[in-house]
Amino acid sequence: MRVPAGVRERVASVHGAAALPERLRLYDGWAARYEQDVAALEYRAPHLAAASLAFAFPAPPAGARLLDVACGTGLVARELHRRGFRCLHGVDGSDGMLEQARSTGLYRQLRRCVLGREPLPSPAGGFLCLTTRSNPSNLRYKAELEAALERLERQGAWQKVLAQEVERWERATSEEESPQGTDYISGVVYIYQKCPVPPLKEG
Ligand SMILES: C[S@@+](CC[C@H](N)C(=O)[O-])C[C@H]1O[C@@H](n2cnc3c(N)ncnc32)[C@H](O)[C@@H]1O
Repeated sequence: MRVPAGVRERVASVHGAAALPERLRLYDGWAARYEQDVAALEYRAPHLAAASLAFAFPAPPAGARLLDVACGTGLVARELHRRGFRCLHGVDGSDGMLEQARSTGLYRQLRRCVLGREPLPSPAGGFLCLTTRSNPSNLRYKAELEAALERLERQGAWQKVLAQEVERWERATSEEESPQGTDYISGVVYIYQKCPVPPLKEG
């Protein structure tokens, strides 16, 4: 199946945005068609993120608190809900995407938050999940995200559970985006666990 031209153009324009404010503005404009477009890309990130979380979570998931970072329209929440996760919090930098996420009714809390620029809300206990693409045009942005996650680790707020590179993440929209000639790009799932707050020392 080829990616339809309209989808290719919309995806390429978002992927091509260099600066974060421009990228988030493009996500605002894309929000209403996002799910339809990523279906045409055979986008697997939400399924992969949910599978990684289900693997990482040793306890029954009903009471597990999860922070879906860069939650978009809520595709990860849909997958998690199907697997029995109920205590979902989400953040995203795009108001347009958050509006779509809100309409799913699947999140207990949703907030605008730009990762790397603002502190993440910290539901006590629990995990966060985040996904991003590893295609050539996203490598700089991916490095920025990883730097932000490393800062959270250094601050003692969150600790890494896994960072898993996955092939066949979604269909590539150009040959340059898929240098191995597979027609697909790869991506990565990050899962972090909230560090316990140390008890206050008496005296
Ligand atoms: C490719 S979408 C993925 C959305 C969702 N996780 C999914 O799998 O469908 C990327 C999302 O990240 C958000 N985003 C990009 N950079 C961000 C940042 N620095 N902080 C917060 N959200 C960001 C965009 O607004 C968009 O909703």
